[in-house]
Amino acid sequence: MSDEMKIQTMMHEQRVFEPSTNGSKDAHVPDMDAYEALYKQSMDDPESFWMQRTQELLDWKTSPETALEWDFSIPEIKWFQGGTLNASYNCLDRHLENGRRNKAALIWQGEPDEDVRVFTYQMLHSEVCAFANVLRSRGVKKGDTVALYMPMIPELPIAMLACARIGAIHSVVFAGFSAMSLQNRIQDCEAKILVTADAVLRAGRTIPLKPNADEALAACPTVKQCIVVSRAGLDVDMKPERDCWWHDCLTDSMHSECSPEVMDAEDPLFILYTSGSTGKPKGVVHTTGGYLTYAASTTQQVFDLKDNDVYWCTADCGWITGHSYIVYGPLCLGGTSLMFEGVPSWPAPDRFWQIVEKFGVNIFYTAPTVIRALMREGVEWTRRHDLSSLRVLGSVGEPINPEAWIWYLEHIGHGKLPIVDTWWQTETGGIMISAMPAATPLKPGSATLPLPGVDIAIVDDNGNEAPPNQGGHLVVRKPWPGMLRGVWKNPERFKETYFSRFPGMYEAGDGARRDDDGYFWVMGRLDDVINVSGHRMGTAEIESALVAHPAVAEAAVVGMPHDVKGETIYAYVILGADEEESDELMKELRVWVRKEIGPIAAPEFIQFADELPKTRSGKIMRRVLRKIAAGIRDEFGDTSTLADPGVIIDLQDGRDDML
Ligand code: WT7
Repeated sequence: MSDEMKIQTMMHEQRVFEPSTNGSKDAHVPDMDAYEALYKQSMDDPESFWMQRTQELLDWKTSPETALEWDFSIPEIKWFQGGTLNASYNCLDRHLENGRRNKAALIWQGEPDEDVRVFTYQMLHSEVCAFANVLRSRGVKKGDTVALYMPMIPELPIAMLACARIGAIHSVVFAGFSAMSLQNRIQDCEAKILVTADAVLRAGRTIPLKPNADEALAACPTVKQCIVVSRAGLDVDMKPERDCWWHDCLTDSMHSECSPEVMDAEDPLFILYTSGSTGKPKGVVHTTGGYLTYAASTTQQVFDLKDNDVYWCTADCGWITGHSYIVYGPLCLGGTSLMFEGVPSWPAPDRFWQIVEKFGVNIFYTAPTVIRALMREGVEWTRRHDLSSLRVLGSVGEPINPEAWIWYLEHIGHGKLPIVDTWWQTETGGIMISAMPAATPLKPGSATLPLPGVDIAIVDDNGNEAPPNQGGHLVVRKPWPGMLRGVWKNPERFKETYFSRFPGMYEAGDGARRDDDGYFWVMGRLDDVINVSGHRMGTAEIESALVAHPAVAEAAVVGMPHDVKGETIYAYVILGADEEESDELMKELRVWVRKEIGPIAAPEFIQFADELPKTRSGKIMRRVLRKIAAGIRDEFGDTSTLADPGVIIDLQDGRDDML
């Protein structure tokens, strides 16, 4: 199905589902009346709403004095001023006193099925204190930054919480990123320490990680120490003056209490880099009080997390989804969070369902790309396992197409479970638009309604609210506690990216429409950002990696519709004058981008071209390139500004030859 057709089917999607859980009295938001009352209360008086919410959800050392101070024109946003707290205290210590001491906080399933580790709150507290003591003893202080480049092993959340405990700002870099990407991020955040591992276990392979860390650190003078977890037992090259094994740092004496640092509400908790439409990835800054309130509040309302639940979010902690919905949200609420090291398809496409059965998972949160990939493998794999423990299903990362939604409902949700399609972003810190599992009638493909406390709207190009069913820009009109507070060391970029086009509003960068029932239908990015398997990639970033190759003169990158990944990367490359087009060079360019950014950024298709469609002023017409990549022959819109219309035909022919 073409992209346009998919959007068409979404436009015509009329079905409404009432999940079997609707009206469950014991749910946090039991029915639609409860949702509407909460929403109204939150819009009438957002400040008291959030003040009340934070008092319910967090233990503050000193209570906040004011709920909110804000001005989107600067922009400046401050939540819960005057309040002090510690995030690791809220995620751990307080649960030792409230009856959850021996409850499983973290269940870790390694890639080999026999590798399981379970941490009770007491045990996790002890591990976090120990590693926090290690960091402190190595000179890490409040306000310092620490880079974490690690596989999905328990040491990752432990290190995150250890940083939070001593007031250090963590910056997790997804282990699938290259040495160069790691280097850029460390240089930008000026990390003092790097925590990494010998290797990543993935789909039966052992992929060395430490060599990437070494390569990155060669140009990172701020990093004086590197702590290495032994995951695979590899014999790695250790630099004695810099490197230390995690297990060697953690002496017995470290395993004692570590007093949590008292943090102001607005002290940064972490930085997480994400791609934009221009330049290098930006360091999104989240702060302590607001972020934690928002992560906890949304985990409770969207997943209806209860004390006996086993909750599993399949994301990687290297992305915001892992931060908010594996670590901070569920642990802050005293929940049991399952963490999985492996992939859905290995050793067989029933791995996820086998894990659901093994641990009796109640709440399951994954991405549309996973659903689509597993759909292809056939329903037999789902039938091999008892999935009756499941109660709530979630989806995140991109719009879920109705076909995948229905499959998810039928084959995983026993035809009756609520599916919460959650729209949000790295910048929003937590979920913004989603159904409430016991309340909201569902429409496949729609993220449904805004969460309480979220004032979200669709505006036209002039910033005026769009009428129902008219597409426009997704914006947020008031601050919410989980929103980013800045771009690390770059206030101009913060303002420019999010607050300049529509003054007084936060611009998400997505296109969407609202239907007659007020339901949101998110269509995808309006900027030059591609969404590959729910991961955000900047086209500019990939282009600059390509142009850095000596054979390349010019490059333009666009997203091309893909049945499983949502979008895949399609690059148009113009070679230098003396270069020859060849399959070898194509391969080399792909390897080059993998090295520059990471495997997820490698173009699936590279089309060599003589020329790109440009306006007379020299601007590349990406709209046209997207259509050519998608194989669309007509509907080029207005091409009157195109300098040389013959370019389109040449590119179309080139594509036909290639595919
Ligand atoms: C972009 C944010 C938030 C965690 C995962 C990605 C797209 C995300 C949905 C959804 C439609 C979605 C948007 C957004 N997106 N969830 N449920 N329906 N689109 O985080 O890397 O910051 O990407 O992902 O385009 O802007 P991210």
